[in-house]
Amino acid sequence: MTHGTELKRRPSRTRRLLSVFDGEALSPPPVWLMRQAGRYLPEYRATRSKAGGFLDLCYNPALAAEVTLQPIRRYGFDAAILFSDILVVPDALGQKVSFVEGEGPRLSPLADGKAIAALSLEGANRTFSVIAETVQRLRQDLPAETALIGFCGAPWTVATYMIGGQGSSDQATARSMAYRDPQAFQALMDLLVAASVAYLDGQVRAGADLLQIFDSWAGSLPEDEFDRWVIAPTRDLVAEMKRRHPGVPIIGFPRGAGEHAARFVRETGVDAVGCDTAMPLGQIRATLSGRTVVQGNLDPLLLVAGGARMKERVRQIVGKLGVNPFIFNLGHGIVPQTPPAHVAELVAIVRDTKQTG
Ligand code: CP3
Repeated sequence: MTHGTELKRRPSRTRRLLSVFDGEALSPPPVWLMRQAGRYLPEYRATRSKAGGFLDLCYNPALAAEVTLQPIRRYGFDAAILFSDILVVPDALGQKVSFVEGEGPRLSPLADGKAIAALSLEGANRTFSVIAETVQRLRQDLPAETALIGFCGAPWTVATYMIGGQGSSDQATARSMAYRDPQAFQALMDLLVAASVAYLDGQVRAGADLLQIFDSWAGSLPEDEFDRWVIAPTRDLVAEMKRRHPGVPIIGFPRGAGEHAARFVRETGVDAVGCDTAMPLGQIRATLSGRTVVQGNLDPLLLVAGGARMKERVRQIVGKLGVNPFIFNLGHGIVPQTPPAHVAELVAIVRDTKQTG
């Protein structure tokens, strides 16, 4: 991997997690968890109620930094992930975003090309600079050995919310628009690539050590559409970030990509791939491990269950994947009903996999 100015400025040796990007298999593997800050933590719920709405929390650098730090204090993860959201991008582009308690995000849906053309990058940097301020605070407040992850949503996944106006199980509204009006859809992809570059660039300049691109709905597309709306925009986003910050590693998380995962890695240029819960360890080992950094993939519901079954699976995952550069994580985010004590147990089990001799 290339060593740009960023890694020279912040030597990877002090942040263990970054060493996997130099090709090192660490034992025990570094560990962090998607959605490690969130509603399963009582201290998160307390801070969130102080902030008002969910976006008010994202746009309050002091409180957003506080909730980012909460799981680091409890569990000593190898990385912190900036507290923000993938839907900050549509909000910054002028599409109204709100979060309904218990129901998730609501956006005024983009009905056609005209609605897409009305969005604008102008003014977005004002929003992104608030998020960058959170990153700046974090770099000061985090332990020196904790890597800081910046992130954005992949253009496809963000577009599914912008067009559907809310989450859905099949992303039918966005998929239909992509068939009906591919030109308008491409314009939205291009705008999202540009906006995501601005969002991520602000995070890296403020001190993020590495980045993750969340493509939570990558799994809903047939192969030609996967190439066009998942691989191509991600490749453009990665290429521009690599041009600006060659030393900053990028993790892709194409959830549900299945058989497409290896091609996704080759064609997008990401440095690591997040594997979802459904991806078989045999497939990961045969097609990804040793060729790229692998991250994953414990079932978040097994973390809710805890106990012997969780321990057995963690050891299986680390045994199979830990021989090559690997980051332990879940296959998707922590769910709200997760007992905080199980997270402590999980970290202890991962750290206990250290190979001696
Ligand atoms: O700890 C972290 O991982 C960092 C912060 C983070 C959040 N969202 C905070 C959040 C990150 C990295 C995300 C990513 C995100 N946001 C994704 C991709 C990952 C995934 O889960 O698939 C997506 C699809 C979103 C959009 C989004 N934000 C949805 C669908 C929801 C509602 C679902 C839910 O869990 O409530 C959110 C809200 C959200 N984002 C919460 C948190 C902690 C819960 C909001 C609350 O406090 O009420």
